[in-house]
Amino acid sequence: MPHSQEPSQEPSQEPSQEIVRAGSGAMFDNLAARYDLLNRLMSLGVDKRWRRRTVRSLRLLPGHRVLDLATGTGDLAIDIATRSPGVSVVGVDPSPKMLEVGRSKIDKRGLSDRITMREGIGEELPFDDQVFDAVTIAFGIRNCTDRAQAIREMKRVTRPGGRIGILELGEPRGGIMAPFARFHIHQVIPRLGAWLSGAKEYRYLQESIEAFPPAQEFAELISTCGLEMIELVAFSFGSCHLYLAQVPEEEPSRAN
Ligand SMILES: C[S@@+](CC[C@H](N)C(=O)[O-])C[C@H]1O[C@@H](n2cnc3c(N)ncnc32)[C@H](O)[C@@H]1O
Repeated sequence: MPHSQEPSQEPSQEPSQEIVRAGSGAMFDNLAARYDLLNRLMSLGVDKRWRRRTVRSLRLLPGHRVLDLATGTGDLAIDIATRSPGVSVVGVDPSPKMLEVGRSKIDKRGLSDRITMREGIGEELPFDDQVFDAVTIAFGIRNCTDRAQAIREMKRVTRPGGRIGILELGEPRGGIMAPFARFHIHQVIPRLGAWLSGAKEYRYLQESIEAFPPAQEFAELISTCGLEMIELVAFSFGSCHLYLAQVPEEEPSRAN
């Protein structure tokens, strides 16, 4: 094919910043190198407490196998492995660069034999049925384009009786401190994010939090996907919730 000196009229094959879907793995590829620092600064460190509570609520035992979906740079996967002796974790995320940062953290902590990281999306998990004892997803369900499908997939890969912990940000709606929490989300986070990272992606964080359904409504979606809600825990004036659910125990056999 002859090469023309004229600028090509063909649309570029490279994904431009404009067409990278907000919240997608490609967007997080752009943030991977700065993600951990930004995360700590924006959450003022409280996300560590939320993750600890999530791990505790899973009631893991030695030998258990956990899937950490939307694992990103692996903070929750690392927390699970560190706090639960003898438990192994598989982290899944569509962003190769977030996974790369995660793998080097896992190596540094000497956890490579207990945590593996692989590419994948929540809506189509690359695992057989009922192979995990528990599944977690921290600040990732918001990014799934089909949340109900992702929840059904989490259920499919978890054994009956296994727990599913979904940690997610939301708009603080009630209580006297809610306006302060809203101010932090709407005014502080986007400015801090843009200033520290130069990335306009952080506007997406604010917009997606605003668009996320109220906690009760999201808990109902979890139930309609066939899980049993165990507990709904509100953190930091409702700016974050832990949705703790379980896969129903198998129906007793009717055949006699
Ligand atoms: C805000 S980060 C959370 C990372 C990590 N769980 C944490 O707690 O720090 C959201 C992650 O969701 C991932 N993600 C985006 N779309 C996804 C999808 N459809 N399925 C699973 N993960 C997805 C992104 O690549 C990103 O790493």
